[in-house]
Amino acid sequence: MATPVLDKKDAAGEPEPGFADSPYITVTIRVRRFNAEVSAEAVWEDFQLEIDPKERVLDALHKIKWDLDGSLTFRRSCAHGICGSDAMRINGKNRLACKTLIKDINPEKPITVEPIKGLTVLKDLVVDMEPFFQAYRDVMPFLITKDTNEPTRERLQTAEDRERFDDTTKCILCAACTSSCPVFWNDGQYFGPAAIVNAHRFIFDSRDEAGEQRLEILNDRDGVWRCRTTFNCTDACPRGIEVTKAIQEVKRALITRRF
Ligand code: SF4
Ligand code: FES
Repeated sequence: MATPVLDKKDAAGEPEPGFADSPYITVTIRVRRFNAEVSAEAVWEDFQLEIDPKERVLDALHKIKWDLDGSLTFRRSCAHGICGSDAMRINGKNRLACKTLIKDINPEKPITVEPIKGLTVLKDLVVDMEPFFQAYRDVMPFLITKDTNEPTRERLQTAEDRERFDDTTKCILCAACTSSCPVFWNDGQYFGPAAIVNAHRFIFDSRDEAGEQRLEILNDRDGVWRCRTTFNCTDACPRGIEVTKAIQEVKRALITRRF
């Protein structure tokens, strides 16, 4: 496909005013494009642009969308690694576009950007997240207590009790883990690492009283036992959560019924 170009040079190839000493480099962003209204096949499209290598892949995608091709479609919201909406495969690895600096991913070669795997692509980099969020809803990701009376003060727990599930509270539901899992690629029925992480967050919370229920949900044929401990999920998590360890802890709790 033709290569749209965005640079900071004038028609004579001289830097535009203000860009003579700029740190800008030319990069090629190679995007996996899909538009069902145009073709049933996805195609790669190259975009060349001038960018400060300290900028992020999300900035590059914005430059493409705003200046080269407004039809480029991707999700993003916070732009600061909090909302989890811009997980994508960058140079073959799941990452958040807003947390990935151009300089850190070898800008001398084309930088490939694709949708995350295992979920149906709706358009360009946007996938259907519904199966992912259904699995999340299935593990009941909220505090459940049996006491029907509203407490008159906050529910207390020790620092040690809080520490037990601290790691899994950091999840931003970006799906980088689940969509890097080969089991999930082969069978989208598997709950996937993110749902298990969010179940872990409540199973090991001393204030919660539905741990047994959540464990039974994950004891299902599509639950934790499908995990093959490949560690892809841990490698992919932009929050540094020890995803595989959390899955192992849930497995152990299922065996020992101690949590
Ligand atoms: S565990 Fe990590 S990779 Fe998985 S959804 Fe949560 S933040 Fe994203
Ligand atoms: S845009 Fe929110 S995490 Fe990247």
